[in-house]
Amino acid sequence: MLVGVVGGGQLGRMIALAGIPLGHSFRFLDPDPRCPAAAVGSVVAGGFDDPAALERFAEGLDVATFEFENVPAATVERLQSLVPTAPGARSLAVAQDRIREKEFFRDCGIRVQAFEAVSSETELAAACGRVGTPAVLKTLRLGYDGKGQAVLRSARDVPAAWRAVGGVPCILEAFVEFGCEVSVIAVRARDGDARTWATCQNVHRGGILRRTVAPAVDVGADAEREALDAARRVAEALGHVGVLAVEFFVSAGGVVANEMAPRVHNSGHWTIEGAVTSQFENHVRAVCDEPLGSTDLRGPSGMVNLIGSVPRRADLLAVPGARLHDYGKEPRPGRKVGHVNCCAADARVRDAQMRVIEGIVGG
Ligand SMILES: Nc1ncnc2c1ncn2[C@@H]1O[C@H](COP(=O)(O)OP(=O)(O)O)[C@@H](O)[C@H]1O
Ligand SMILES: [Mg+2]
Repeated sequence: MLVGVVGGGQLGRMIALAGIPLGHSFRFLDPDPRCPAAAVGSVVAGGFDDPAALERFAEGLDVATFEFENVPAATVERLQSLVPTAPGARSLAVAQDRIREKEFFRDCGIRVQAFEAVSSETELAAACGRVGTPAVLKTLRLGYDGKGQAVLRSARDVPAAWRAVGGVPCILEAFVEFGCEVSVIAVRARDGDARTWATCQNVHRGGILRRTVAPAVDVGADAEREALDAARRVAEALGHVGVLAVEFFVSAGGVVANEMAPRVHNSGHWTIEGAVTSQFENHVRAVCDEPLGSTDLRGPSGMVNLIGSVPRRADLLAVPGARLHDYGKEPRPGRKVGHVNCCAADARVRDAQMRVIEGIVGG
């Protein structure tokens, strides 16, 4: 099949790298003709709100999907009218708006932190009184890698926080004192077959994911079951087709759902070598309406993100068991330019590999 992917970043690139062995070919819609996915398919260069580019992109596609969720609703509707598209508009709309997302989780019976919508400094001050401090102010839309966020330690931080996010509509959330962060990657096929991969335990610094291990180690069996069940419920309630990820805080009171992504996710990159079928391959299978592959673990797995630039490439390649994934991006501070995966027969070997990799990566 000819698969169209809206967005040509590293996620699109890895979707194609998984789909090509199955006999599919790929076309991307991206503003940058030299985007990371250009190495693995053709690129229609254009903005996500450019109707002419969208028509050229959709022409002759068998199916279309997204590697990027912040696509205007009009683009999604137009694309759906031209070609079978997955996931659907609902999955994207819920994930694009942090308030809708939290309300959706709550409606699914999934625990969320206290939150309120705020659209002025006065509203922020009032919400701060109800939600309490510390709290996190986040732009409703378009946030990623911790961008568009400010932490309020006390009500005195209201003016500075409001300025820091640029005075746009926001959500104020209670700060969650978590023991660890986990995510669950789920996939759902058109026929309703839904599967999850092993729980991912994630470490963020500066709002950016640094490392993942799977299965998660610091989460009890009950919390783990709760997280896996919640992600599956989200996929089912959305009628989602394809991969989605739900991020959780593991707190003393149980798991708290933080946000979701209606697409393949950075915390699932370990599945390339660490699972029988990767998140990327199962996403392609779901979108192309083919049977899903096993999500079973091959062994304790890990991933270290490369942020800013690819350091000491030869050293990384020399680590036994390490698998380098270089996205072919220009170096830039804070930018995800690659990751290194490892998968071992036992967790101690995996941990030793991760230590060596992180020693090379630094930071
Ligand atoms: N309410 C919160 N309480 C504690 N930590 C938070 C909270 N919100 C965000 N964080 C921290 O910031 C990271 C990024 O925030 P997130 O909401 O996932 O936004 P995004 O990934 O879209 O930038 C989280 O993974 C977590 O480490
Ligand atoms: Mg996040």
